[in-house]
Amino acid sequence: LTPQYVKASIDGRIGRIRLNRPERYNALNRAMIREIVEAMERFDQDETVAVIVLNGEGKSFSAGADIEEMVDATPVSMELLDPFADWDRISRLHKPLIAAVHGFVLGGGFELALACDLIYATPETQFAFPEVGLGVMPGAGGTQRLTKRIGRTRALEWLWTGDRMPASEAQQLGIINRIVEADQLEAHVLTVAERIAAQPVMSVRLIKDAVDKAGNLSLQDGMDHERRNFYLLFGTNDQTEGMQAFVEKRQPTFKGN
Ligand code: HXC
Repeated sequence: LTPQYVKASIDGRIGRIRLNRPERYNALNRAMIREIVEAMERFDQDETVAVIVLNGEGKSFSAGADIEEMVDATPVSMELLDPFADWDRISRLHKPLIAAVHGFVLGGGFELALACDLIYATPETQFAFPEVGLGVMPGAGGTQRLTKRIGRTRALEWLWTGDRMPASEAQQLGIINRIVEADQLEAHVLTVAERIAAQPVMSVRLIKDAVDKAGNLSLQDGMDHERRNFYLLFGTNDQTEGMQAFVEKRQPTFKGN
């Protein structure tokens, strides 16, 4: 099936996903989320793709979940639809996910960005969780991911007020990696993506896997997990090549396995 709301393409070793519903500020209806997740999963399993980059077409990254689609929902319709099952699939991806955001990054759009590993934003970008003003709350990880990033006290203030957080504050709070001028955002993000894509694939993958454990395990369990991953890397060709190249004082040529 041809996606209706996203454009997906492969650019070198970068899998690109562009949210493409600009007339609605890329409001995320269920079909759109499914298309995003399916494109992510296809890239995650495609050996030619090393890094996945997400951005929004038009004036904004995304104004959040499609309110018109939710206006008549009931607890039972939500339970039966289980709209968040698709969102959960994002956490199971192995490859680096980078969000390049601009304009409004609201509600579900903010949650989608927070589900990515790295976030780059333009100076004018505004982040917010406006759900409180609609009589609801974030449902796709916003309360959890924001709190883990910035702590309870600060997260509650943003979630209760629904205020717009400028990119500069998002950067100070450690929510985003870097602010890049709008006309340079795409080039900057592709450069970062290409740098990561040039690294040994298994190292990149097992680093993400270990870092994810830091949020969920005790320090010792996380370190045990890290060690397993470290040992596993000694079974890769890229470890042999990387260390041999160092010893022989030459540049390594990585094979990606
Ligand atoms: C459905 C939306 C939408 C949304 C914008 N549109 N956001 N439709 N869901 N989230 C539509 C408008 O209805 C309008 O359609 C068109 O996009 C242009 O928007 P305008 O409001 O006319 O533009 P503007 O005045 O520039 O304001 C832009 C805006 C505002 C600040 C982004 O639209 C806005 O506040 N949107 C809602 C943001 C929000 O509350 N997000 C949280 C959603 S709840 P027409 O047909 O009139 O042209 C959520 C829960 C997450 O995300 C749960 C997990 C998934």
